[in-house]
Amino acid sequence: MNESMETVANGREDVSYVRPRAGEHFVETESLKRIIERALKYLSAGFPVHFRGTSGTGKTTLALRVAELIGQPVQLIHGDEELTTSHLVGGESGYHKRSVRDNFIASVLKTEEDHTRYWVDNRLTVAIERGNTLIYDEFTRSRPEANNVLLSVLQEGILDLPLNRGDGIWTLKVHPRFRTIFTSNPEEYAGVHRSQDALRDRMVTLDLAPFDEETEIAITTKKSGLSREAVEKIVQIVRYLREKGNYEFAPTIRGCLMISKTVRAYGNKICVDTKDLLFQRICLDILTSETSRIGSRTTSTKVQKVVNHAISLYCRNGKK
Ligand SMILES: Nc1ncnc2c1ncn2[C@@H]1O[C@H](COP(=O)(O)OP(=O)(O)OP(=O)(O)O)[C@@H](O)[C@H]1O
Ligand SMILES: [Mg+2]
Repeated sequence: MNESMETVANGREDVSYVRPRAGEHFVETESLKRIIERALKYLSAGFPVHFRGTSGTGKTTLALRVAELIGQPVQLIHGDEELTTSHLVGGESGYHKRSVRDNFIASVLKTEEDHTRYWVDNRLTVAIERGNTLIYDEFTRSRPEANNVLLSVLQEGILDLPLNRGDGIWTLKVHPRFRTIFTSNPEEYAGVHRSQDALRDRMVTLDLAPFDEETEIAITTKKSGLSREAVEKIVQIVRYLREKGNYEFAPTIRGCLMISKTVRAYGNKICVDTKDLLFQRICLDILTSETSRIGSRTTSTKVQKVVNHAISLYCRNGKK
């Protein structure tokens, strides 16, 4: 779950939805406010919005916040290679079993089995019919064939069902309140599923830059509960490593959050200082694991060198 946004999920209905709520840890800077404002305008003008950015730039959090401001229930889909059109639209299901106790002879239990095939709507269909907001997180992870069904939804406002649902309906008209928010990571376009250009052409893409230092500090302070002074140093260490580029994967704000939350969990037993070996060890554990896939000795050594240098630069005697 995204910890900056609380989500209330329904427990009863067939197809789940969430109601995101910005928690007390949500940070809204001026630049974020401006993006949110523009996104809401594009959406109200009828265009889907697409937040594109590398890992940890706040895409999912922003999508949930914008959806919260729209005010409708939210259907959330996560892109996945295994996802098919029926995961979006729905499909036939067909086994039903129930037991009935005979009213007259209590020991008799009748079991009824029913193999009738019946249609079950999935998240896209539900959102389209009810006028909910659809968040399709990391949509480029799904195969283009699975997402093709969205083309006519976004262009013509029509959803073609692969089968007659049983109510004689093959085509659904999109509810006027239906809105869509997409997210994606541009680094993943280079993979098997290239950018789904026809789909992308139907949405307004807003590129999210990595957080500036002030925002990274504000978010980490709010979410870790650590003092701002300590967080400033931790953020500087992570940003230094990011700028040096000695890693397989750039460290994200998650590195700042993990270090800060761990330091806080230790309470008074740890000090954000060059002399504290435990603090150094925590920085190395977290940043080596975040920045390397296979953890080869060469990469770890490179990361360790940069991190140690950053600690000596920013944490000496409690000063930079
Ligand atoms: N405005 C914000 N206020 C508070 N916390 C935030 C904000 N934006 C992002 N975060 C936090 O930063 C972290 C990364 O954000 P998020 O998961 O939204 O990024 P993302 O771009 O979706 O990353 P990924 O590509 O890895 O899914 C999360 O812990 C999130 O709670
Ligand atoms: Mg995300």
